[in-house]
Amino acid sequence: MAVERTLAMIKPDAVARDLGGRILAHYEQEGFKILACKRTRLSRAEAEAFYAVHRERPFFDSLCEFMTSGPIFAVALEREDAITLLRKVMGATNPADAEAGTIRALYAENIERNSVHGSDVPETATQELAFHFAGRELL
Ligand code: CMP
Repeated sequence: MAVERTLAMIKPDAVARDLGGRILAHYEQEGFKILACKRTRLSRAEAEAFYAVHRERPFFDSLCEFMTSGPIFAVALEREDAITLLRKVMGATNPADAEAGTIRALYAENIERNSVHGSDVPETATQELAFHFAGRELL
């Protein structure tokens, strides 16, 4: 199994409830190395660019509004099979469908305010890591 890097975001709903540290600890308990972590806030243009793939979806405007509503943590993670595993550890997009013990089952408020994001496939992970981090920041 190859060692991979993936991008996580701890979203405004979770940061506002001071859950950042607990979620970072959750990643570490699941064997992820935290390569880089920054607290930042997305501009409207950045949120629209990050979620451009969802541009035509009915929830796009509301999603961008939410993602710019407060600070986030952008997190670069590394481990074997990181991309698939992070999505398991996060749980389903809708917390109502998320398996017990997953981050979204534990912390998410609803399908939009779902506490965390993780890249879905290797190409997206590369793009999303570059969106938040310069190469020299990922040691
Ligand atoms: P994320 O994994 O960051 O990818 C896209 C985001 O859009 C998703 O998490 C949710 O925050 C949001 N989202 C996805 N589906 C819906 C939906 N049906 N209604 C509202 N928000 C959604």
